[in-house]
Amino acid sequence: MPKPKVLATRPLFPAAQQILDVSCDTEYWLQPDRISKEELFLRIKDKEGLICLLTERVDADFLRAAPKLRIAANVAVGFDNIDVPVCTKRGVVATNTPGVLDETTADFAWTLLTAVARRLVEGETLARSGSWKGWDLDQLVGTDVYGKTLGIVGFGRIGRAMARRATGFQMKIIYSDAVRAPENVEKELKAEHRDFNSLLAEADFISVHVPLLPETRGLLDGPKFYRMKPTAFLINTSRGSVVDEAALVHALETGKIAGAGLDVYENEPFIHPGLKRPNVVLAPHIASASLETRTKMACMAAENVTALFKGQRPPNMLNPEVLKAG
Ligand code: DGY
Repeated sequence: MPKPKVLATRPLFPAAQQILDVSCDTEYWLQPDRISKEELFLRIKDKEGLICLLTERVDADFLRAAPKLRIAANVAVGFDNIDVPVCTKRGVVATNTPGVLDETTADFAWTLLTAVARRLVEGETLARSGSWKGWDLDQLVGTDVYGKTLGIVGFGRIGRAMARRATGFQMKIIYSDAVRAPENVEKELKAEHRDFNSLLAEADFISVHVPLLPETRGLLDGPKFYRMKPTAFLINTSRGSVVDEAALVHALETGKIAGAGLDVYENEPFIHPGLKRPNVVLAPHIASASLETRTKMACMAAENVTALFKGQRPPNMLNPEVLKAG
């Protein structure tokens, strides 16, 4: 029996290819440039499976070009690039990669937080420049992290991983979330719940860990920056569109906040020129980019696809209603 045809929009990692190639006939997009919409639409035509990245859109247009498609497996936990209701209507299973990137992402959010507080990038630039004149008392003085207040926006797996890191820095931990965490979790992480506006007013560092949903788009807008302390820093490793970027630039320019550490942007790969300031540490969406974690993510996507073609339920379905229970 012929193996089901699958398109992977990146070569993936050897471990993921091994999983996939046992039961699928996979075409990998091997070009260094990412796949264009035209190529994607052309190559998906005869495929039953897709392994895609967050840079590819799986929407009504795409599905029209994919008449045989049964599964779209995103190599990311965020799935704002996938129109899940449209997939469900078409009977296409959509999957993501939750859980495996939590600690790695929190590590990186923490990296941004300490880097911007302690002016690491400015210091590194000076150290490399050849113009460093030696130690000086007030040179590149930053802000302490330990003992400060961390405000976590979105207290899911990654938000809680941030809280665990903050306890080692003797920080006060406050969080806001649509759903309050169970008492034992609050107790274990020494985290106190706040409504969003109180968190904004109280925190020295605000780290964002909410998915991009209609209700979180532009969550941090102009008026929200006015609520923050002028000494506070914003850290964002979730999705760029959770923050109104123009409002953030304005807040930075007018000193409404002290700085930011950003891994994600509204219109990637475009980065607003107003963000390219010394008090902003910029990264190119790499919070989950460790070899171990990216390999796990790719393997998870491969397992989701192979499970479906073996007649099993993919473990990470975003629309479980597509497959009847049983
Ligand atoms: C995700 O998984 O959603 C990240 O943005 C990339 O790892």
